Amino acid sequence: MFKTAVAKAIGVVTILAMFPVVPTYAEPIVITFSHVVAADTPKGRAAEFFKKRAGELTQGKVKVEVYPNSKLYPDREEMSALQLGSVQMLAPSLAKFGPLDINDFEVFDLPFMFNGYEDLHKVTTGPVGRQLLDKLESKGIKGLAYWDNGFKSFSANTPIKTPEDLNGKKMRIQSSKVLEEQMLELKAIPKVTAFSAVYKALQTGVVDGTENPISNFYTQKMYEVQKYLTVTEHGYLGYAVIVNKKFWEGLPADIRTQLETAMQEATDYANKIAKESNDKDLELVKASGKTEVTTLTPEQRAAFKKILAPVHEKMASRIGANTVDAVQKAVGFTK
Ligand code: LMR
Repeated sequence: MFKTAVAKAIGVVTILAMFPVVPTYAEPIVITFSHVVAADTPKGRAAEFFKKRAGELTQGKVKVEVYPNSKLYPDREEMSALQLGSVQMLAPSLAKFGPLDINDFEVFDLPFMFNGYEDLHKVTTGPVGRQLLDKLESKGIKGLAYWDNGFKSFSANTPIKTPEDLNGKKMRIQSSKVLEEQMLELKAIPKVTAFSAVYKALQTGVVDGTENPISNFYTQKMYEVQKYLTVTEHGYLGYAVIVNKKFWEGLPADIRTQLETAMQEATDYANKIAKESNDKDLELVKASGKTEVTTLTPEQRAAFKKILAPVHEKMASRIGANTVDAVQKAVGFTK
């Protein structure tokens, strides 16, 4: 009796060895990609591009569903949704990783750190950028890529030409301590506000002004509720594309490779369209006739840079002195 049972078990094991059970996935595999900005922005368009290429390269085995405009989750909730596996992919602004207790990404918020996109890519496509993404693994998150948006400008209902023009103003910021310190140096009052709530906050006077790349300013219709926009380009706003690590590592290897290719193509696309998209939206803001647009002279810009210089030193211990140092070296930062 015992011998028969053992023989049967051996038989089953032999059959299993001959025909290994390949895990089956419900097809198509769905990747829910949530983000907070409009579809017609650098991030929104790159997400759609990724969706298309992921479908094509996997021959329909993967279906990416993109939810723009905080339709699924606003800022803070989207991070926990990713960790819980309720969504698989996000591309939060680099200013929004502090709540995960990873402060290094706030290095990208340091004012006047990057002198254009080229500088920035020295970090985002190099070893420093990769090391930062690897820090996310301990939080159950895998960092796949950096996507550009652009350089931020200040807006308010009164003209902004000097740092003093922001004294006493309630300024909306993303949830970053570096941005908080930046506003404090300007003697403004920083107010952390979810992106989805910014228009209303500006409209009702909960905040007086904000900072954003022009693509966000235009597509969220902030020009309807801000009389002045000054092209200051005092800081950078871009994204890390992140996935739930368990989900990603559990994908069949061939599918993961195809998705990596789709992500590389989407990254090239995002970084190609970011500047032209912001430039186009600046013209549209001007054409709206609702916001007066000015650009700082080099002297005026230098005055902002000088006032904001202490933010680098004050925030170094929070961000991590090594990270600040590595980024400053990569871009050849000068005070
Ligand atoms: C913001 O909150 O202003 C930005 O992070 C929104 C975005 O994703 O570009």
